[in-house]
Order: sequence, then structure tokens, then C-alpha cells
Amino acid sequence: MTGSRLLGTGSALPERIVTNDELAAQIDTSDEWIVERTGIRQRHIAGDGETTATLATDAARKALDDAGLTPADIGLIVVATATPDNTFPATATKVQNALGCNGGIAFDVAAVCSGFLYAIATADSLLKTGMATRALVIGAETFSRILDWEDRTTCVLFGDGAGAVVLEAQGEGTQQASDAPGILASRLHADGAQHDLLYVDGGPSSTQTVGHLRMKGREVFRHAVVNLSDVLHEVIEDAGISAGDIDWIVPHQANKRILDATAKKLGIAPEKVVVTVDRHANTSAASVPLALDVARRDGRIKPGDLVMLEAMGGGFTWGASLLRV
Ligand code: ACO
Repeated sequence: MTGSRLLGTGSALPERIVTNDELAAQIDTSDEWIVERTGIRQRHIAGDGETTATLATDAARKALDDAGLTPADIGLIVVATATPDNTFPATATKVQNALGCNGGIAFDVAAVCSGFLYAIATADSLLKTGMATRALVIGAETFSRILDWEDRTTCVLFGDGAGAVVLEAQGEGTQQASDAPGILASRLHADGAQHDLLYVDGGPSSTQTVGHLRMKGREVFRHAVVNLSDVLHEVIEDAGISAGDIDWIVPHQANKRILDATAKKLGIAPEKVVVTVDRHANTSAASVPLALDVARRDGRIKPGDLVMLEAMGGGFTWGASLLRV
């Protein structure tokens, strides 16, 4: 196999929407501050009965429908999440069981906000080796459950949701030209020295608790713009294209100012950047596949378009993938 191509996308959001004004009624913040600093206007928050696995399963079903496939066609499920239903087993195995396609490969990837980039590159590699023919790659999170709702510097920034894509392995001779559909290039990076800038202060082996998200937002912002523009340049060079060839950037939706600054550094027009952070806030690993699904379903991203996915998150971890849809 020479690579994999996108067959379908899907997404799922919790029913409950929480506006900035609702948060301002509980903590010392304002709609004006949140919109001006981040672009966020609202977020979806999971309710009783909604978990990372249920959102992931909903998104997966929609992606399968979009691809015209059934669960039986899937031999590999990768779920990117930092908020699994349980410490183990992997949320991917819960999704597999809910879909009823047991027997194939299923595992989770933990790379926080860049988890979907790690997951799609891993799935693409496994499909290339022939380990499976079709894969569901899912980003799903319920960050509302690891937020400190009294910390205004973090709790206003995040939301819950899931996004999924279906990939299919391609045989010899069907890919590699940059005008053929498929994943053209991916790059991943991590820098464990930056742990303290963005982390959760608990875990099974350290505190035996789930913990809460902690972040030095201003420093994360600074690293994000540099790391993301570097990795975008790497992928552009690997694929042998120029930045001007890119039809759409589908970035991790952390903060509208990070999206704008990264696009500007790359010389890409803001109209080519898919933005959902205003409606979804930062949904961590779910944000890239959620935004991809939104822009495919509203007709912006069309077959043949060259689409760049990119993200950075805790670790730090970061990465980008270029695909022809
Ligand atoms: N409402 C009102 N005031 C607030 C709030 C709030 N929710 N949060 C902080 N403030 C106050 C601070 O206390 C501070 O007050 P002070 O000047 O009296 O001390 C003031 O606002 C400015 O705070 P800063 O942290 O300096 O504000 P900044 O402009 O850096 O914006 C933000 C903060 C939005 C977190 C920004 O730094 C950011 O977006 N960073 C990126 C972090 C991120 O997106 N992480 C997600 C995961 S990683 C990733 O995806 C890339």
C-alpha cells in the first residue's frame, strides 16, 4: 500500500450550550474579555449520559454514513483523547463494541490537543503496512470534566465534542502525485521539557485522582505560533508544494488569535482558515476533525481541495498533515 485517502467525516456535540454570559454569572469574567482574547462565544458541555465514548461513537456513525460504509468494513479504530471514559481499557475498545465491529485493532492515542494529528499519522502508517484496510480515526474529549471551574484563566477556554474520519488504504500506483486524493505528508514533534506550561495536576500513578488542567496561557501562546509555523513549513516542503497551493487550513481551535497569527506567518489569507472556535471553544483532540467535518458539510471543502491539518497541545506535542480530499 502506498498511503490512505479520506472517505468520510462526522462529528458530534453535546446538546447543552453554555454561553460566555452564563459563565460570567458564575465566575469573575465577561463576554467581552473572552471574545476579545480568544474569539470564543459559546461551548458545548457534556451532560448526564454523555461521555467521551458516546460522543466518539456518534461521530464515528456519521463518518461511516458519509463514507457509505458499515462498521463491519472497519479493521482499525484509533481514538485520540486526554479524557478517556476509564483509565483503561482504551476508549477505542468501547467505541468498537458500541459499533459492533469487534475483532480488529483498537487503541487510544494520548497527545492532548494534537492527538488527532498523532492518530491520523499513526493510522495512515498502519494502513500503509497492510495491518488494516479501513480505519476510523476519532478525536473525542470531555474536557469539562478536568477543568477547575473556579479558575477563570482556563475554564472559559474549553468545550466538549468529537470528530471522526474514515480512511482507506490505497494500492500501488493510486497515489503519490500531489493532485491525487490521499494523505500527502505528515510530521509530528514533542518537547517534554515544556510539561509545566500545560498539564493536568493528577493521574492514576501520581495522585490517584483525575486532576485539573493547569496552563500558563501566555507562554503556551508564544510557543504555539512558532512551533506551528515551523511544522507547517516542514510538511509543505515534504509534499513539494507551496503555501499558496493550500486551499484550506483546518487548525486546532485553541484561540482565534493563534489561528490568525499562524496563517499570517505562513502568508495564507484568513479566509482560507476554517474557524469553529467561536461556537465550539477548544475541544482538544476533537477540534480538528470537528472543524473538518463542519467545513466539508457546509460545502467549503470540496473534493480535490488541498487541506492542511495542524495542532499543538500539552507535552508539548505538535504536528501537521496535508491531504488531498
Ligand atoms: N476573564 C477576565 N479576566 C481574565 C480571565 C477571564 N476569563 N482570565 C484571565 N484574566 C485576566 C488575568 O488575570 C490578567 O489580569 P491582570 O492583568 O490583572 O493580572 C489579564 O486578564 C490578562 O491575562 P493574560 O493571561 O496575560 O491574558 P492573555 O492576553 O495572555 O490571554 C489566554 C489569556 C486567552 C489564555 C491566552 O494567553 C491564550 O489563548 N493562550 C493560549 C493558550 C491555549 O489556547 N491553550 C490551549 C491548549 S494549547 C493549544 O491549543 C495551542
